[in-house]
Amino acid sequence: MHTEIKQVIIASDHAAFELKEFIKTLLTERGIQVEDMGPFSNQAVDYPAFGAKVAQAISTGAYSYGILMCGTGLGMSMVANKYRHVRAALCNDLFSAIMSRRHNNSNILVMGGRIVGKGLAMEIVNAWIDTPYAGGRHQTRIDQFDGMGTCS
Ligand code: RB5
Repeated sequence: MHTEIKQVIIASDHAAFELKEFIKTLLTERGIQVEDMGPFSNQAVDYPAFGAKVAQAISTGAYSYGILMCGTGLGMSMVANKYRHVRAALCNDLFSAIMSRRHNNSNILVMGGRIVGKGLAMEIVNAWIDTPYAGGRHQTRIDQFDGMGTCS
């Protein structure tokens, strides 16, 4: 399926390390280039540092799309949305993933590795990748908050 998403920067914490590895394989098999910011084992780490690496890359424009995962997805989405121009969407269900692209032009997909299984995560990632942004009236709304944020 056509997608403008050709490259994704990705990170997790220990709670979603296995899911990150699984999603990396899925993306690579789809021909999407993956930049993995870690961690590189399931040893316990603190999610803010890993979330910040991906969010900063999106905020500065170094990358256009990212995926973050932790136990619930909550911590990663809180960190990521501190960054200007980041629209991180916590999507542990399919409908949110589709709508986050269509209406919110989400540029970071966040999932909880302790909530979604691999099958659902695969569906969520594929839907997020394949759903185009609708633009139009939704852009007016995004423009109203796009400059907000404490970090870049
Ligand atoms: C780690 O135990 C857990 O707190 C973390 O993965 C995440 O769920 C935080 O929001």
